[in-house]
Amino acid sequence: MAMQDCLLKIKGISLEFSGTPILKSVNLSLNQGEIHALVGENGAGKSSLFKCILGIISPSQGEIIFLNESLSGYPIREILRKGIAMIHQELMLIPELTVAENIFLGRESIAGKRMGLREINEATSDLFQEYELDIPVGAFVKDLSIAHQQIIEIMRSVSQKACLILMDEPTSSLTEKEVIFFKQLIFRLKSEGISIVFTSHKMDEVFGFSDKISVLRDGEMVGTFSKVEVNPMSLVQKMVGREMKDFYPKALSEVGQQILRVDDLSCVPHFEHVNFTLCAGEVLGLSGLVGAGRSDIGQVLFGIKKKTSGQMSLKGQAYNPENPSEALQAGLGYLGEDRKEMGIIPEMNITENMSLGLLDTYRKFFFVDQTRESADSIDMQAQLSIHSAKEGQRIQNLSGGNQQKVLFGRILLNNPEVLILDEPTRGIDVMSKFEIYTLILALKKQGKAILLISSDLPELLAMSDRVIVISKGKQMAEMTREEASPEKILEYALH
Ligand SMILES: Nc1ncnc2c1ncn2[C@@H]1O[C@H](COP(=O)(O)OP(=O)(O)OP(=O)(O)O)[C@@H](O)[C@H]1O
Ligand SMILES: [Mg+2]
Repeated sequence: MAMQDCLLKIKGISLEFSGTPILKSVNLSLNQGEIHALVGENGAGKSSLFKCILGIISPSQGEIIFLNESLSGYPIREILRKGIAMIHQELMLIPELTVAENIFLGRESIAGKRMGLREINEATSDLFQEYELDIPVGAFVKDLSIAHQQIIEIMRSVSQKACLILMDEPTSSLTEKEVIFFKQLIFRLKSEGISIVFTSHKMDEVFGFSDKISVLRDGEMVGTFSKVEVNPMSLVQKMVGREMKDFYPKALSEVGQQILRVDDLSCVPHFEHVNFTLCAGEVLGLSGLVGAGRSDIGQVLFGIKKKTSGQMSLKGQAYNPENPSEALQAGLGYLGEDRKEMGIIPEMNITENMSLGLLDTYRKFFFVDQTRESADSIDMQAQLSIHSAKEGQRIQNLSGGNQQKVLFGRILLNNPEVLILDEPTRGIDVMSKFEIYTLILALKKQGKAILLISSDLPELLAMSDRVIVISKGKQMAEMTREEASPEKILEYALH
């Protein structure tokens, strides 16, 4: 291989946080125009490795060579200027600025020339035209879908002439249709010689997008493989270090009595005339594209949004929650799709975050029963396999997937009868997904009624007894697990 083909060489990178090793002498090589998937369980160190490359955190050992030059000691700004860009796990745009302003943020003068608003808009229009993107350059970022925001982050990297883009879970908030577009976009970037390293917990993307796959396990590089050397099952085995037989657990259980009933429910302009029932021990899947109104249905049920007409009833009684705390009282539990909105308090530790809102349960006279609070939380952490470096760890230092599991734990501690789960496995690794599926099935067996909102079609099909498809706020179809197929669901969803 010619020297200039090698774009990035990571040599023996080690990293620790307060004495805990996070990365252990990691090596990785990347060629120009290569698409490289970085996989590993939650907490394996993927985001940390990206942050080392970009100079956001400094490794304790090792060296990163980019275009034959060591990056050691350079500040982030310099590294960005050298042509490395990163799309973070959480998007980093400024919602109150326009698309064009975000693309040119911090670079209002280019090659010594000051750029006014008109120039910025024109340059952005040109760029979008070149990439056949249909996004208004003057729109405020806060009014765009997550998918479009993602594209804007990528286009910002492109306009900065980045030749290496690190993408941390770029597809985790995208629907199937958006993922197809995303795939075209990264292949286009590849054809222009741009290299991409991305992380993903979805095997079809890992195999569908990448040229090479590197596996991190507990901060160690297990190896780099070409797609012919591994298959999804063997790759997962490398990630978790043991054998896995199936991606979805199987369990049959009896469906019980009707618990929840929704009649002609509307929440204009989000959705209209929705009808369904949900029984004890049943998983009802809500499918559709992002923005179709699925999440809004969950939010109305949980008292976050107000219905505009229609009826809801819970065990035969009219049910009309004024707010989430009334919904909680009535026996509902809700896992929202956005961790940040769900109220993770970054400065608090895992136990505190888990028992947030449940303090009444733990109140003894005027004090919080911390022993019981902590025992319950530790029990739940074990049940959910939440891996933290040490006890009492602040939640902000947990990997993304583990944060999601803490939120799940919070809901379960309240012992709800009806669970509304909106994208419960987003950003969660294969092994932990399996654990969450097992948990969902266990809850189902206990007789919980579960409304599952998911963009992950294989997951939705494997977990649901029945599936409802929503498109543009309308209920398009209802089918049993036996009747449902990915093709059928997509056909209704895209209607
Ligand atoms: N600032 C920090 N202080 C202490 N520990 C940290 C800090 N940042 C990350 N960690 C720990 O480092 C480990 C690796 O985290 P990282 O975010 O790199 O994982 P990841 O592979 O990106 O996981 P995910 O798939 O969940 O996003 C985790 O155990 C995490 O708790
Ligand atoms: Mg991560």
